Amino acid sequence: MKRPTAYLAGIGKYAPTRILKNADFAAMGIDTTDEWIVQRTGIRERHIADATETNTSMSERAARIAMERAGVQAGEIDVIVLGTASPDRLLPATAVELQAALGAKRAAAFDVMAACSSFLYGLIVAEGLMQSGAAETCLVVGTEKLSSIVDWKDRSTCVLFGDGAGAAILKRSRGGRGILSTFFRSDGTLAELLWRPGGGAALPFDEQVLQDRSFYIKMEGREVFRHAVRSMTEATDRALDGAKLTGADIDLLIPHQANMRIIEATAKHAAIPMEKVFVNVDRYGNTSSASVAIALEEAQASGRITDGMNVLLVAFGAGFTWASLVIRF
Ligand SMILES: CC(C)(COP(=O)(O)OP(=O)(O)OC[C@H]1O[C@@H](n2cnc3c(N)ncnc32)[C@H](O)[C@@H]1OP(=O)(O)O)[C@@H](O)C(=O)NCCC(=O)NCCS
Repeated sequence: MKRPTAYLAGIGKYAPTRILKNADFAAMGIDTTDEWIVQRTGIRERHIADATETNTSMSERAARIAMERAGVQAGEIDVIVLGTASPDRLLPATAVELQAALGAKRAAAFDVMAACSSFLYGLIVAEGLMQSGAAETCLVVGTEKLSSIVDWKDRSTCVLFGDGAGAAILKRSRGGRGILSTFFRSDGTLAELLWRPGGGAALPFDEQVLQDRSFYIKMEGREVFRHAVRSMTEATDRALDGAKLTGADIDLLIPHQANMRIIEATAKHAAIPMEKVFVNVDRYGNTSSASVAIALEEAQASGRITDGMNVLLVAFGAGFTWASLVIRF
């Protein structure tokens, strides 16, 4: 186990106030039921941004809370790494819009796009920059306005996702707490199982893309499920190995909140009992890049994380991408 370089000095989140319950889909003309959604996914409701809310505005609110909790001013931030699969614009990065909103004048700001693994990828990138000496204080954000990129005519996807943002300030470790191990991987051969085929440079936005609705999220649910379980279990093993720990040493597992059945399979594989697993998928749905960040904030704010605890983060997403970290708080 290496000596930790970076620790999470402050965590914040923001979720839009508008809540869409499973029962509300019927009134939107979507052929689904609360029973189907709860049984297959564990999701009961999700937060949905209004027209005025953007990734920039949501992540600014989350970031300001993280900064206050960490005692960090905007001018002290060296790097902003922002993960999102639903950027406010295709150009420039949402991270620079957040930088401007925060007034973080000396920061270098850029997006990472690793879908639901983005927040974990962001933490790993930021930690690496701190190890190299390129940064002392980093802001890592996961934010999504997925309601703007899901196909509200496709019941197999639109019931799954939600909006929100989470943020963490990373500072240099003192006293052995911080990131103990990291692991990340990708497999681009499986990209077409979960993607937005149209609207980018390969298939620029035009009448055909509009007609095919190919700028919205397309997913092969069953295949994604299978790979998600396999990758999340691999990732938990690798982060535990890296930290020279076992499931028994983990005080809290915070998995990506996509589906209750995937969460249960991941915990079972790592021999971590469900009492030590943080779950909020029932109240948020899948918020992709924001998922683990929001869960981390809720776990800490509710007292489930206390000093000295070993916390295992694990995520899986489109790409495919998967990642994990063990953090000592
Ligand atoms: C999406 C998911 C919940 C679907 O569950 P499933 O058991 O695999 O269901 P299927 O896709 O095989 O569909 C089964 C039936 O339910 C129907 N169905 C799909 N969505 C539905 C909905 N919202 N309401 C009611 N019925 C629905 C399908 O049309 C299908 O009907 P059919 O048998 O008559 O053809 C599940 O595959 C899953 O969670 N996959 C992983 C998704 C994920 O987490 N993605 C993000 C990864 S980061």
